[in-house]
Amino acid sequence: MVGDDCLSHVDGFWLLPQFVEPIDRVIKHLGRSPSDIILASFPKTGTTWLKSLLFAIVHRTSKHHLAMKNPHDLVPTLEVQVYTASDEPLLNNPCSTRRIFSTHIPYQLLAKTLDSSDCRVVYVTRNPKDTLVSTWHFINKWKKAEKEPWPLDVAVDKFCHGLVPCGPYYDHVMGYKKLSSENPKNLFFVTYEELMSDPISHVKKLAEFLGCPFEGEDDQQEQIEEVVKCCSFEVLSEREVNKSQESPAWFQLPYNSFFRKGAVGDYMNYLSDEIVKRIDALTREKFHSVGFMY
Ligand code: A3P
Repeated sequence: MVGDDCLSHVDGFWLLPQFVEPIDRVIKHLGRSPSDIILASFPKTGTTWLKSLLFAIVHRTSKHHLAMKNPHDLVPTLEVQVYTASDEPLLNNPCSTRRIFSTHIPYQLLAKTLDSSDCRVVYVTRNPKDTLVSTWHFINKWKKAEKEPWPLDVAVDKFCHGLVPCGPYYDHVMGYKKLSSENPKNLFFVTYEELMSDPISHVKKLAEFLGCPFEGEDDQQEQIEEVVKCCSFEVLSEREVNKSQESPAWFQLPYNSFFRKGAVGDYMNYLSDEIVKRIDALTREKFHSVGFMY
């Protein structure tokens, strides 16, 4: 059971109970090195995509790895795959000395831990309506075994009240958005829509931010295009490993549940005009006052 009726409230955020202890361990014990890269995101905003992109940018010869492994097995999530049982887990990444982790922990909870380190943080976000629709589909897959689907109108209500895993969505985004305004050198803030509309220039900027720019006048463009292609929804979702019905040891849902449609604006196929107006009004209230548009 997940999503609307069994979340724990911790410091203003709604968390899945099984992750409360691991999150506490991450906050208290995360060992950092300045070369670490942390991908932060609200669930369903493009984490899988960014994991593959960061991995491909850092490990230029990554095509083979991305063909053989799901992005979540290449870039583990701290509270789901790393700090599950121990304060000092084995943090070695066999592929490199440059470690990449991800997390859904809100900045408000992770602030002290992140601020005391020089690691690079990348935050991806996505428009709230597509995030909501993606969350609704995902939780319904989770609930399938109970044969009790999560009605869309209930999901809308819960999302607007922040009652979804890691919610409120708006507070999550604003936490990292403020950090990016105050400290742009250490945080790269990007939206799913920006990446979709111009992946080449964003991958280029990401590589520069991470301190591993693409070089060489002649083949720079070719290298970036290669990264974008091997991480595209079309290519990744067709990989056998990502089509797999098998579930990883660290999660109840199969690998293929991380790939659904991968589109901008899919909410139009699900949300009524009235719901769109309601969410847009909330978004204006929460985001526009601080100059962030959606
Ligand atoms: P949809 O449900 O709208 O299709 P997360 O990785 O944070 O859980 O987000 C999942 C969303 O990202 C899903 O959106 C999924 O289909 C989409 N996605 C996964 N891989 C992607 C990729 N390589 N490119 C674009 N979108 C991708």
